[in-house]
Amino acid sequence: MLEHLSVLSPDPILGLAAECRADPNSNKIDLTVGIYMNESGVCPVFHAVREAQQQLVADEITKAYLPAAGDAVYLQSMKSLVFGDELVGDGSKITAIQTPGGCGALRIASEVLAAAAPDATVWISNPTWPVHIPLMGSVGLKFETYSYYDPASHGVDFGNMTNDLKGAKKGDVVLLHGCCHNPSGADLTLEQWAQIADMAEAQGFTVLVDLAYQGMGTNLEADVAGLRLLAGRLGELIVAASCSKNLGLYRERTGVALFFGKDTQTAAATHSHGLGAARRVYSMPPAHGALLAGRVLSDPALRASWESELSEICARMIELRTQLSEKLSEKTNQDFSFISREKGMFSFLGLSVDQARGLRKDRGLYMLDSSRINVAALNEQNMDKVVEAVASVL
Ligand SMILES: Cc1ncc(COP(=O)(O)O)c(C=O)c1O
Repeated sequence: MLEHLSVLSPDPILGLAAECRADPNSNKIDLTVGIYMNESGVCPVFHAVREAQQQLVADEITKAYLPAAGDAVYLQSMKSLVFGDELVGDGSKITAIQTPGGCGALRIASEVLAAAAPDATVWISNPTWPVHIPLMGSVGLKFETYSYYDPASHGVDFGNMTNDLKGAKKGDVVLLHGCCHNPSGADLTLEQWAQIADMAEAQGFTVLVDLAYQGMGTNLEADVAGLRLLAGRLGELIVAASCSKNLGLYRERTGVALFFGKDTQTAAATHSHGLGAARRVYSMPPAHGALLAGRVLSDPALRASWESELSEICARMIELRTQLSEKLSEKTNQDFSFISREKGMFSFLGLSVDQARGLRKDRGLYMLDSSRINVAALNEQNMDKVVEAVASVL
């Protein structure tokens, strides 16, 4: 049977990263995949995670399944990290399902949305993280796009965004990136989040927030101010959160689907659908990452260490943005100041597909065809090489 299968084209991001790994050029630079790398080019383990891991190895007495919804300490910690204690209240209106990464959370959220509104259209930003489409589309949800990034101004095209979203009806879902928009780095202001809340109230659409970078844009609180505003105003919000980046737990597959509902009855029904979806798709969540995250978030000393390391990482990314934008502006006599206004790991350099491919072929500088780069892969060793290479094609 399997011989009838034809080979699919590789994932656009992972395929390029594999191409880079196979490139024998010793000067190659990989700015493709969204992982944070320190000055030595290593994606580090947080000190608090390392410590929690030692404790866990010493304390663990079983590898029995976790409860199907996940580890209670982790779930409680994630509710309060994302929504803050005031919105969480006694927690009875919020349902949380521990998932394999943020991708698992998006999938569980999609399954629950499809159960609640099988004909829902999901509105996604143009552009968005490409994985949203297969991940949510495989559940059977349909898509519409809304304008988001304006390549001319290198910022959010809010006028066209709100114009397009006038088409979102009751029963539709609008997918927003909580912070650090992937791929553009262009985020909504708090005033713009408030205008989206006005529209959601008037039109009745539901908002799903993809939160993969909390703490990596400005700080842990500011990065969720927009989604908290929506949750408070609308009384209903779905969040797919990931601990891959902000706790450095990428390979441990640690995420959570959070459903902020209107009342406890809705929460109970949502919970049952979330559990049903998890059972169908992967049955039980992986434990290790969530047990580490739960310890780090709930232990005061580990928490303080994590918060301080995360804010150093965030500050370093802001500094890399400043350096890149200044160096590129100086070298090319063009305005790259937009790079320092953006948040998180990603930025479009504004190159054509041919320029991006040329840099790959001639200089071993790997970025996506869209010229999206991972700013967090820059360091003192490669910064000037990147600037020089980019300037050479402009
Ligand atoms: C926008 C966005 N959403 C979700 C994810 C999911 O991350 P993971 O499944 O690795 O936790 C990512 C990871 O790169 C992302 O960039």
